[in-house]
Amino acid sequence: MRRLVRRARPHTATVSSQHLVPASGTGSDFAVTERDFQRVCGWLRDQCGMDYRANKRELLEHRMRRICEQAHLGSMQELAERLERGSDPALSLAVLHGASTNHTYFYREPQVLDTFARLVLPSLPRGELRIWSAAASSGDEAYTIAMIAAEVLGPEIARASLSILGTDISAVMIAAAEQAVYPQARLSGLPQGLRERYLRELGDGQLRVVAPLREMCTFRRLNLKVRPLPFQRSFHVVFCRNVLYYFDREQQRATVEAIYEVTEPGGWLLTSVTEPLRDLGTRWLPVQGGVYRKAA
Ligand SMILES: C[S@@+](CC[C@H](N)C(=O)[O-])C[C@H]1O[C@@H](n2cnc3c(N)ncnc32)[C@H](O)[C@@H]1O
Repeated sequence: MRRLVRRARPHTATVSSQHLVPASGTGSDFAVTERDFQRVCGWLRDQCGMDYRANKRELLEHRMRRICEQAHLGSMQELAERLERGSDPALSLAVLHGASTNHTYFYREPQVLDTFARLVLPSLPRGELRIWSAAASSGDEAYTIAMIAAEVLGPEIARASLSILGTDISAVMIAAAEQAVYPQARLSGLPQGLRERYLRELGDGQLRVVAPLREMCTFRRLNLKVRPLPFQRSFHVVFCRNVLYYFDREQQRATVEAIYEVTEPGGWLLTSVTEPLRDLGTRWLPVQGGVYRKAA
C-alpha cells in the first residue's frame, strides 16, 4: 500500500484526445441492435461489475451513443467489437466513465459523517492513520473526511498522521479530484465553519480546497472489481458509499469482503445508509445504519 499512499502529484491517466473530439453526430442512421447493446452491457459487467437494469437502459444507451459520436464510430456493433478486442484503452476508459454516475457533493449523509466524527475517529490508534474513499468520484468525500479529521484530531495531528486515498474507476473523476476545485452548488451542504476554514474563493464562483488538506489526499484510478485489492498496507477506515447499488448482489458481497481483507482488525467500513449489507452474508459486524466494524 505504501506505494499508493504517497503525497499528491500530477495524475497521468486521463481519457485522451481522439474520443473527445466533436464529431459529425449519430443521426438516425446510427445502428443499435439489442444484441450489440447487450454486448456493451456485458462488457461493463465483466470489467467492473456494473449491473445496468432495465430502468437505466435509456440513459446508458444515450451515453454510449455520445461516446460513439465522439469516437467516430458508426454503430453500437463497432463499439462492442472494439471493447471486446480490448485494443483501445482510451475508448475503454471513456466507456467506463460514461457508464458511471458520478453524482457526489460535500458532507453527503451527515448522520454517517457524524458517527465518523464521534465514534470512529476517537477509536483509532495514535500514529499513522490510513483512510480509503473507495469510490471517490471528484473527491468531495475524501476532502470532507479530511476536514472532519482536522476538526476532531486538530489540524497539526491530522496533517502529520493521516493519509487519505481516494480511488475511482473513472480517470476523468480522478483528474477532477486532484484539482480540488468546486462550484458553490456542491458545497451547499457543508457547515459554514468548515467552508470558511478549508476552502478558498478563486474569484470565478468556484472554490478550492486549501493546500494542507490537499496534501493529505492522494487519488488513483482503481477498479473495485480487481482481486486481490492491490494494497500493501491495510486501512483503518474505508468509506464505500453510493457505489454498491451499481453492482449485482454477488458483486456487492465480493466487494465488501475484499475490503474486509484490506482493513485493519477493529477497523471500520462506512457505506451509505441506503446500501445495507444485511443478508449479504459478509463478515462485517453491523454497528448502526451505514457503519460496520471488522472483528478486532
Ligand atoms: C455516485 S458516486 C459516489 C461518490 C461518493 N462515494 C459519494 O458517496 O458521494 C459513484 C462512483 O463510483 C464509481 N464506480 C463505479 N463502479 C466502480 C468500480 N467498479 N470501481 C471503482 N469505482 C467505481 C463511479 O465512477 C462514481 O464516481
